[in-house]
Amino acid sequence: MKEWTREERYRVLQGPEDIRDLYARIQTSAYRQRYHVQPITGLSSDPNGFALHKGTWHLCYQWCPWGAVHGLKYWYHVTSPDLIHWQNAGIGLAPDCFYDNRGTHSGSAISQDGELVFFYTGNHRDEDWTRTPYTCAAVLGEDNRPRKLEKPLFGPRDDHSEHQRDPKVVWNKEKGKYYIFIGAQTLDKRGCVLIYESEQLLSGWRFAGELKVPGYEAFGGMWECPYIVNISGRDVLIFSPQYTKLPGRGESTNHNVYLIGTMDYDTLTFTPDGPYRHLDYGFDFYAAQGAASIGDPDRAILIAWIGLPDNHYPTEEEDWEGSLSLPRELRIRDGKLVQTPLPGLEVLRDTQIAPEGKLPAVCELELTASGDGDVDFNLFTRADGTGGLRLHYDSASKRCTVDRSGMDKRFNQAVGETLDMPLDAPLKKLRVFIDRCSAEIFANDGEATFTTHVYPTEREFNYTLNGGELKIWKLKPSVTDEFIV
Ligand code: FRU
Repeated sequence: MKEWTREERYRVLQGPEDIRDLYARIQTSAYRQRYHVQPITGLSSDPNGFALHKGTWHLCYQWCPWGAVHGLKYWYHVTSPDLIHWQNAGIGLAPDCFYDNRGTHSGSAISQDGELVFFYTGNHRDEDWTRTPYTCAAVLGEDNRPRKLEKPLFGPRDDHSEHQRDPKVVWNKEKGKYYIFIGAQTLDKRGCVLIYESEQLLSGWRFAGELKVPGYEAFGGMWECPYIVNISGRDVLIFSPQYTKLPGRGESTNHNVYLIGTMDYDTLTFTPDGPYRHLDYGFDFYAAQGAASIGDPDRAILIAWIGLPDNHYPTEEEDWEGSLSLPRELRIRDGKLVQTPLPGLEVLRDTQIAPEGKLPAVCELELTASGDGDVDFNLFTRADGTGGLRLHYDSASKRCTVDRSGMDKRFNQAVGETLDMPLDAPLKKLRVFIDRCSAEIFANDGEATFTTHVYPTEREFNYTLNGGELKIWKLKPSVTDEFIV
């Protein structure tokens, strides 16, 4: 693993020529994806500024151009007409002023009165590396590039730690106000959310208070990337608590969870209807954000980073890593989120191939359970059926267990290589999307999901199945990987 100095990680990009060779080199990787948004070079992490604006979907990702390392972060911008086909649009936000001298960190967007406005964290650090996070804004220009406001909207509060970031902006019609939710940490290191309010988007912001979430006063050490949305009359609070282990999640200390409940803007209290749930049961799913301004009160569209902080992935040696999940549709059913692949994603289906034990590198699989018994579905096995990403469904406990320890390329072993995806109903169906270095599994029409990176070697493109019927489609590419900086 390459050791990076701070100077190397925090180098400022002088122009496209700085990374043209790196781009050309990683294009040849066997793990470059075909229908997922991935970094043009270096590392991608959180989705940022996701919104529908004048018929175009805008999305950015946290981007460190230099390699598979968390260093100086830019926003890299991509756009789509349909959430399926994506094209590169160049740098969205660059860390080029005092307030964000060490990174334009995560945030959100809103399309309002004909403007697309981005909110992000300016990560300022002094010479001695003391951090001051600023909440900043930018407005999309005619040339499809965001223009930053000269001054931040507000700075940090000194009654909380330096961890104050990832502004999520929402409009509350009843109150006639905008609110910003900021992921934060108390001085005694508990995760929380700070709330600001204003009648205007680009000025007048004042601190409203800390969000109260009864029962969650001591739940992790920092809540990254808060996201709040109303779906069919219920409020959903999604966040990424870190610095804590949670039951059933191995040794990992980074999670992405949700609560369904009621948000009261008078008392700044989110009252959960029930316990938290994991947004996704896989190894690699974090910092999920929904698209703003979609104009549909009964669903949200969510996207996440396929990856986790503090983890390392095998493409690190090729100087790139990370990608974004497929956007997924969120609805509420029986007090739970139901997450499904986007309707219309079937346009990517190319040829259907016979289920004869071979696994294409870019494909969709649809498994229908034969009965009510156990199912064994092993992906990326060797030709003799050994090894691979092994999924076992235990009908007695209604639980899928996924084990990635059998793969040739193992990684992040310290956080655990086996995780469970519990189901409420017996397993009837799995839809699996494979794209060269990722697998996303949707169980029972969205009852639960499991997302993981996986780096198969040449001898591992096989599968075995017991207890079900399988359909396989090769998928067409839908993401152009052009060199636009
Ligand atoms: C989450 C996170 C955010 C921060 C960003 C920096 O992965 O740590 O809290 O804004 O990444 O890249």
